[in-house]
Amino acid sequence: MTAPPAYDAHADWYEEYTKVASSYMDRVRVHLAELLGPGAGRCLDLCCGGGAQAGTIRELGWTPVGADLSRGQLRWARSRLPVAAADATRLPIRDASVPAVACVLAHTDLPDYAAVLREAGRVLAPGGRLVHVGVHPCFVGAFADRSDADLITINTRYADTARTFDAWAPHGVRARVGAWHVPLADLLNAVVDAGLRIDRVAESSPNGIADVFALRAVKVTS
Ligand SMILES: C[S@@+](CC[C@H](N)C(=O)[O-])C[C@H]1O[C@@H](n2cnc3c(N)ncnc32)[C@H](O)[C@@H]1O
Repeated sequence: MTAPPAYDAHADWYEEYTKVASSYMDRVRVHLAELLGPGAGRCLDLCCGGGAQAGTIRELGWTPVGADLSRGQLRWARSRLPVAAADATRLPIRDASVPAVACVLAHTDLPDYAAVLREAGRVLAPGGRLVHVGVHPCFVGAFADRSDADLITINTRYADTARTFDAWAPHGVRARVGAWHVPLADLLNAVVDAGLRIDRVAESSPNGIADVFALRAVKVTS
């Protein structure tokens, strides 16, 4: 029997946690809004979780449609956007059929984020845009000692991409569901290898050391 998706057991907790971590989530939403920009048509909210980003996507004029593996998360999401239970690496969506994809706070939840980006590249229409928003690959992870917010220490585990439950915040998501680290070069190369052209990059921080990293990329037209 296959193990249930990691978030099934934590979906109710995650719903509350995103409210507690509200200043971080506010910055995440600002990046999403600025990079996605106004538009019309479907925006696939990939790994939508409980639908925390649906309101932002809708306010920009897009029609959010969510996909997530966790039925526990989708219980929350259903009241916020239409959703499908689907694996982000094997979407039940036709090639080149959606004008926008947003993937927010999810790249550390997957063993192969490059496969997710390839799938986003497949379903995006030519000229369509992908927005990625996630924890900063250089300064957030099990390799980063954040016990002093003003002096973050990076260790050699930066190169370690294996799943770990060693959390950067002991009461946060990662201690519960674990995380995979994606080094910066791997992340950027995976976007390019998915047939997407990066046209905007952003990062932000509460104190000068960035903890969010975001980018927009456009499906290359052949
Ligand atoms: C940290 S949550 C982020 C949820 C949401 N995007 C947000 O901004 O709050 C990561 C989500 O990725 C989902 N996920 C992990 N692996 C997945 C996969 N292979 N396919 C689809 N969703 C997946 C999890 O179920 C979880 O809901």
